[in-house]
Amino acid sequence: MSMTLFDTHAHYDARQFDADRDQVLSALPAQGVELVVNPGCDLDSSRRAVGLARRYPFVYAAVGVHPEDCGNWTEGDLAELRALAAQPKVVAIGEIGLDYYWKDNPRELQQRVFRSQLALARELDLPAVVHDREAHGDCMDIVREFPGVRGVFHCFSGSAEMACELVRLGWMISFTGVLTYKNARKAVEAAQAVPLDRIMIETDSPYMAPVPYRGQRNQSGYVAQVCTRLAELKGLDPEQCSRITLENGRNFFRIPG
Ligand code: NI
Repeated sequence: MSMTLFDTHAHYDARQFDADRDQVLSALPAQGVELVVNPGCDLDSSRRAVGLARRYPFVYAAVGVHPEDCGNWTEGDLAELRALAAQPKVVAIGEIGLDYYWKDNPRELQQRVFRSQLALARELDLPAVVHDREAHGDCMDIVREFPGVRGVFHCFSGSAEMACELVRLGWMISFTGVLTYKNARKAVEAAQAVPLDRIMIETDSPYMAPVPYRGQRNQSGYVAQVCTRLAELKGLDPEQCSRITLENGRNFFRIPG
């Protein structure tokens, strides 16, 4: 038995992969990586995500404008995202959300862009991939305004209580290599609290590399370390955990088996 992994969040359009993108991606299937979702961060990165999905059979794309990249947002961007979302293998709107750590974009603008894209997810009946950094309360309030939208909080950083509330609202929780860090008490508690069928795993490559690669450039093969840690927390074999999280991701993004 070996692991069958789904990295539900990785940014291969990022410049950190400019020198060896094809090499890194082509090596993934041999590391047990069966599927990758590459979310966009702005219009250009969303276009590149769609291009990667076209090129690699195991890559799927999400399209969206990240709160750190929403400074030039116009409502015309929605039409562009709608057109991109109609491309083959686009499985979600993301990544979208709120980031109050970086202060470049005013909170009101971030909230407006987040709401517009959640409305697009609802219109297109696509799941949403949400980035929430130091904005838990406002993210929850805005998500509650869209009861018809399903989504995932990626790189989850909230409390166990918040995770359970999201699960109650029908949402998924996704964990990164943070689970493997020594100071990861909050993420560990959330992973223990969330039912296994509502959990997905991801690398958030090129960021957030798990132990023992912490500080290095991340890549989807390292989702194995996230899987192994989650398995330990849930009392499962890593292989079993990889199969369950793969299945969860397939169902969530509606990727046929
Ligand atoms: Ni991301």
